[in-house]
Amino acid sequence: MKKIIAFSLWLFVTILQAQSVDTPERIILNLTINPSSSIAVTWHTKESYPQSFVEFAEATNWVEFKEHTVKTPTQMNELNYKNNISYTYSTVLNDLKPNTLYVYRVGYDSVMSEWNQFRTASEGNQPFRFVYFGDPQNGIREDLSRVFRKAILTAPDASFWLFAGDLTDLPDESMWEEWFDATGFIHRIVPSIMAIGNHDLYFEMVNGKKKKTDKYPLWQSLFTLPENGPQGLEESVYYVDYQGVRFIVLNTNYRLEDQAEWLENVLSNNPNKWTIVTYHHPVYSTGEGRDNRDIRETFMPIFDKFNVDLVLQGHDHTYARTYKIYQGKISVDESKGTVYITSVSGPKQYSANPMYKDLIAKLGTFTQLFQVIDIQGDRLIYNSYTVTGELYDHFELTK
Ligand SMILES: [Fe+2]
Ligand SMILES: [Fe+2]
Repeated sequence: MKKIIAFSLWLFVTILQAQSVDTPERIILNLTINPSSSIAVTWHTKESYPQSFVEFAEATNWVEFKEHTVKTPTQMNELNYKNNISYTYSTVLNDLKPNTLYVYRVGYDSVMSEWNQFRTASEGNQPFRFVYFGDPQNGIREDLSRVFRKAILTAPDASFWLFAGDLTDLPDESMWEEWFDATGFIHRIVPSIMAIGNHDLYFEMVNGKKKKTDKYPLWQSLFTLPENGPQGLEESVYYVDYQGVRFIVLNTNYRLEDQAEWLENVLSNNPNKWTIVTYHHPVYSTGEGRDNRDIRETFMPIFDKFNVDLVLQGHDHTYARTYKIYQGKISVDESKGTVYITSVSGPKQYSANPMYKDLIAKLGTFTQLFQVIDIQGDRLIYNSYTVTGELYDHFELTK
């Protein structure tokens, strides 16, 4: 009997100790402005560990890489959410070799994450693929988990994932808890870039009503995104060149004119073969009762002028893929025009608004989707899949 009591006590204490270990969580890789030589790592703990670090090395087939690791210190940030204090850590690993597989882990003292692997981008225009998601937003643990899992099974070799905003319904701790639960280990091995949606913005309560601000502190704590956009829009407006494609991320919530000026500059100095732009509010609304005229009038003339190939959007909780559009009409010249996509990954879906149906090649709704986009030299191959794995839409661009 004494033995049973002693064993039970030991088991209880062991479980308690295991639960009290403050393991690094919410580990996520983000692309930097130099994806062939650097990568950003961000993570989270409940308590403060200012001596935290990232340990990394070139990957090997066995554990001998552990003899050659480099430790990089990190920047710790206090995260105050409704007076609950926790901590995030942000590090950029620099001076990496292109097209090379690395292992890394994060933590402090002897409390370290598992080893994870990532590959840096190539320096040239080698073929690659990435995955694009429209609004996840609601039911993240319940209904998005299977979308993310189907996407990683469909494109396990994707170089990165791209989100077009409204990642969560509110910039709320509990929703981000769900997010990192639903994405599991994927963010630890597949880098991401994301555009900010209206639901990702911080809000204040004014006279009992929610009032959106132009701040996004939780977004900036949870991710480490490029800061090469206009001042004050860091980590929500930026661009990344990836193996012959310039990816430009805009913030369609406010300051459109400032972004238009910056966009002109970024597009007039673009040595890449392909150009893909992503932002949240679509130029051709397909959600009932919606129209984003200011975004259409501000950005579309610039997309026309610089021949942007593809625009990836969200917000309308429907699916739409336009024909190639130039000056507001279906392009008659194959060498001119832009394809505009709106997609949705989450369960919240609206009836499709047919207002722009003459410009739209595929319109749909009440289907959870993700898109796999391949860049292969002079071909861009686009496939949209349903959460059950059916091919939902397909087209190709050549240039
Ligand atoms: Fe949304
Ligand atoms: Fe939205």
